[in-house]
Amino acid sequence: MLDIEALIEETKSFAPANKEELETFRVRFLGKKGVLTELFAKMKEVAPEERKSFGLQVNSLKVAAEDRLNQFKDAFEDADTGSNQNIDLSLPSDPNPLGSFHPLSLVRRKIISIFSRIGFNVSDGPEIEDDWHNFSALNFPPEHPARDMQDTFFIDVNPDQEKYKGSLALRTHTSSIQVRVMENQAPPIRTICPGRVYRNEAISARAHCFFHQVEGFYIDENVSFADLKQTLLYFSQEMFGADTKIRLRPSYFPFTEPSAEMDISCTICKGKGCNICKYTGWVEILGCGMIDPAVLENNKIDSKKYSGFAFGMGIERITMLKYSIKDLRIFSENDVRFLDQFKGVR
Ligand code: DAH
Repeated sequence: MLDIEALIEETKSFAPANKEELETFRVRFLGKKGVLTELFAKMKEVAPEERKSFGLQVNSLKVAAEDRLNQFKDAFEDADTGSNQNIDLSLPSDPNPLGSFHPLSLVRRKIISIFSRIGFNVSDGPEIEDDWHNFSALNFPPEHPARDMQDTFFIDVNPDQEKYKGSLALRTHTSSIQVRVMENQAPPIRTICPGRVYRNEAISARAHCFFHQVEGFYIDENVSFADLKQTLLYFSQEMFGADTKIRLRPSYFPFTEPSAEMDISCTICKGKGCNICKYTGWVEILGCGMIDPAVLENNKIDSKKYSGFAFGMGIERITMLKYSIKDLRIFSENDVRFLDQFKGVR
């Protein structure tokens, strides 16, 4: 017969050096084939008058063994995770990693800074627009084929807003902000309007269903095409370097007359010819022109007294040229390996 008193004593003085010794102890006392199982099995062999005191003794052993186990289990677990020990309070703390500006934010901020130096302020407008601000006021008549130049996301409106039916849409360009500003301000107006725009286009390396533009325009007495050209030359050289050349090609936009598209000398090959500029030495960066007098009149600005120029560019495009980025999908993927490369850039 096992000496229970001795076992209790042994249990109480047990002090394992490591996890393994503790586990051996657990198996020996509390395991399926351990001492306690054996003792409980013996219970029925014990004479009835001794059974009670035997039972109490076995129970004391069980409690003692469990106590011991719990006490050391915690100690070894703490050592494993180092939660209570092994903390060196004299160590310097982990450096707090700095984030970076998104490259599109960097370029937007740079565009704002360049234009603010020649007197342009910043204006804003809603991303959900009505037909008037996105199209009609800008001289896109209903059914005009020019509306097809931009694939629009129209918005279903609830029946209480019947008056907007078929008219609310995600703005397709920041030119809509021109209209918002003209409604609220009198010339002289000199402003740029950065913002996000949406078009129902298949996503590829060169196109996305949402992207960013900056619209700019200047309305005053005697604003001329020469003013437009000089402003855009100044912008291009500030953005891409003093050796940057520009060229204007005739184009068409409903809200400008005359209209042009502007190319800059290729930032990659400096005009020698490469696959970015398709070996032409030039890359297109924006559309521009003199604001059509009809647009001024739509917004109650006297077109006999005032004239203006306007331009619009894609921020993604400028950013891709500036940082040699070949696929615009990467801008919206939030891959930190890409974003980290802009750490410290201001
Ligand atoms: N809104 C045009 C577009 O999204 C860009 C543009 C062209 C804006 C000519 C202008 C402009 O202000 O004069 O394609």
